[in-house]
Amino acid sequence: MDSVLEQASQAARVIRNTLGEHFDITVVLGSGLGGLADKLFDKQELDYSKIPHFPTSTVSSHAGKLMSGVLGGKRVLLMAGRFHFYEGYTFAQTAFPVRVMSLLNIPYLLVTNAAGGIDTSFVPGDLMCIADHIKFFSDSPARGEHIPEFGPRFFDLSEAYSKELRQIAFQCAEELSIPLKQGVYAFMPGPQFETPAEIRMLRTLGAHAVGMSTVAEVIAANQCGIKVLGISCISNMAAGVLDQPITDEEVVEVAGRISHRFQALVTSIIAHIPE
Ligand code: HPA
Repeated sequence: MDSVLEQASQAARVIRNTLGEHFDITVVLGSGLGGLADKLFDKQELDYSKIPHFPTSTVSSHAGKLMSGVLGGKRVLLMAGRFHFYEGYTFAQTAFPVRVMSLLNIPYLLVTNAAGGIDTSFVPGDLMCIADHIKFFSDSPARGEHIPEFGPRFFDLSEAYSKELRQIAFQCAEELSIPLKQGVYAFMPGPQFETPAEIRMLRTLGAHAVGMSTVAEVIAANQCGIKVLGISCISNMAAGVLDQPITDEEVVEVAGRISHRFQALVTSIIAHIPE
């Protein structure tokens, strides 16, 4: 079997040969947020199944395509669909695309997701800039054999979500009059939504939103030296906040409903990211 480095190199080569060489930023689109793909100029698409060693997306709200194009005047590599721990992948597998992006020398990663609101001042449809995250589980994308090409064995996460990029996000939000919250994203493994007791625990621990993705990608990106910005769409209130069950339909519907605001904000952020 090829090493992970060889696998990532093969994937990077195919992407280079089909979608191009130079990208300013990678954007990962979360559940129901795929509409941004239609805004790309000069768009080219590559099915994940055509990329060697890429996992495949098994969730219906995730398209499973890598796209390239221009957005906000920048060359963007866009992942329409990501991989989740709950699909059976390890953290390292869910972060494989990030390692490929590091071999493509892409300096910035913008991760987006749909998340449940834990902070009771949030309402469904809010956008939240991720300030930090909480992950309890023992898995890590950096666990196992150390591959120096993907960064040091031990690495710092004290600014896992770049302060500079967060400042840009808030400036863009203000210019566009789009309300933007800030908070801590808690990773839970899913695929079940949480219990009300778990949500009370997460609130006590300082979390403002909860979701089933993102943190593995962010950890791997930090190890490789890629600067990260994270934007959550609060698609529902987390379990027990309201006296009603949570459904996947609601998550996708709310994410779709705010897509106009989301797309405007993300486009402006990309335009303002340093060259
Ligand atoms: N919990 C976990 N993941 C989620 C939620 C939630 O309430 N909403 C969207 N993704």
